[in-house]
Amino acid sequence: LQNGPLAGRHILITSGPTHEPIDPVRYIANRSSGSQGTAIANALVALGAQVTFVTGPARAALPEGCRVIAVETAREMRQAVEDTLPVDAAIFAAAVADWHVRNAGNSKIKKTAKGDIPTFDLVENPDILAQVSQRVTGRPDLVIGFAAETNDVIANATKKRTRKGCDWILANDVSPETGIMGGAENDVTLITSSGVTDWPRASKQAVAQRLAREIAKSLTGVHND
Ligand code: C5P
Repeated sequence: LQNGPLAGRHILITSGPTHEPIDPVRYIANRSSGSQGTAIANALVALGAQVTFVTGPARAALPEGCRVIAVETAREMRQAVEDTLPVDAAIFAAAVADWHVRNAGNSKIKKTAKGDIPTFDLVENPDILAQVSQRVTGRPDLVIGFAAETNDVIANATKKRTRKGCDWILANDVSPETGIMGGAENDVTLITSSGVTDWPRASKQAVAQRLAREIAKSLTGVHND
């Protein structure tokens, strides 16, 4: 049995990118490394939580001491999340693709002698964070999303929190010059119903540890720091 303020609490984390197949050998992906999600999982385990880690194909090392469910697509990620509920808290750190390719084929798309260029129909993926946030039954006590933005970060993230119905949003600026997406550091702003708190830029581990402490406070009502 684990010790720590989160002992006995089950927490779900989604992490990494998703891959959306175009055909059996090609896919749509994004630059998420999964490092922030792995760091959050490790920080929660360190506080005694039981963690289920649902990850797309990420570069980051897997977290220690978690139940890991590896998925590829957004639709698989949604299924894994549904299968894991109920949980005490859920953190949606994955960079889920917004769309998948309609009718992704079972055979490789070939170039033609005429030089025809293939076109793809895209279909919107399920918004896993919004669906879990808006559940009538079995909603986690605490639902946390990320808002990776490149402009008007706080304004967009504040709107996102209400639109999706989650409790907290961690907003971050993923403009290429910040080096955050795929990098070792993060610079986040925590947005809750009671306000906006700018955290100093720090390693993804330090951000994860602070988040884990905030989660422990919220779930237990006990302030340990
Ligand atoms: O809408 P946007 O993609 O910017 O929202 C980001 C947040 O929503 C992240 O927490 C991400 O994990 C979550 N999300 C999700 N399912 C999607 C899209 C985003 O869970 N299809």
